[in-house]
Amino acid sequence: MRACIFDLDGVLVDTAKYHFIAWRNLASKLGVEFSEHDNEQLKGLSRDASLDYILNKGNIVATDVQREQWKEEKNNEYLALVLQMNENETLPNAKELLKELKSNNVKIALGSASKNAELILDRVNIKHYFDAIIDGTKTSRSKPDPEVFLLGAKALNCEPHECIVFEDALNGVKAAKSGGFYAIGIGEPEVLFEADKVYASLASVNFKMLELLS
Ligand code: G6P
Ligand code: MG
Repeated sequence: MRACIFDLDGVLVDTAKYHFIAWRNLASKLGVEFSEHDNEQLKGLSRDASLDYILNKGNIVATDVQREQWKEEKNNEYLALVLQMNENETLPNAKELLKELKSNNVKIALGSASKNAELILDRVNIKHYFDAIIDGTKTSRSKPDPEVFLLGAKALNCEPHECIVFEDALNGVKAAKSGGFYAIGIGEPEVLFEADKVYASLASVNFKMLELLS
């Protein structure tokens, strides 16, 4: 293992709850029901693909202008919640693991679909751990396409088989596996069944065990 590539939402920070609130409010305004199960399907998907999901669910045909307006509305609400985040809102052991990896010379990249990734990394004060940041502003294909992780590996000068990807979404695990990465799922094994290993959270992960995996 030469490098670790982390998804952001749901792995390092618990922002899924904020995405949920903001999408649910937009969906409700559009007359579409939006459950926790729906939110699970959106994990790892781009903002565009997420809106598509809601519009499809409600059989809504939208103009480009409406789409832009709804995405902006959702994002403004999401940002208002994210801007209230503080340094303590990283998930358990996230900071400690990043620190441990850094001190053992493991390269670290972010591989996130979010266009708000840098802002969030700043908010919770972990941006300095990353040697490369690949986010939704740098990718053109949504997970499960492996693009985001392949760009991450390239930015770190590593081959996919030298990198471990951490993901909380099945789409993200699929992206990692199809790109040739070792995939660690963070969440439930029933959901992330395609991952090489699944842990409930980063709290059960440390450098020594990662070293033994690869
Ligand atoms: C992450 C989240 C998704 C979210 C996507 C885009 O992958 O898991 O739920 O839709 O980022 O986020 P953004 O901040 O650009 O709207
Ligand atoms: Mg995620």
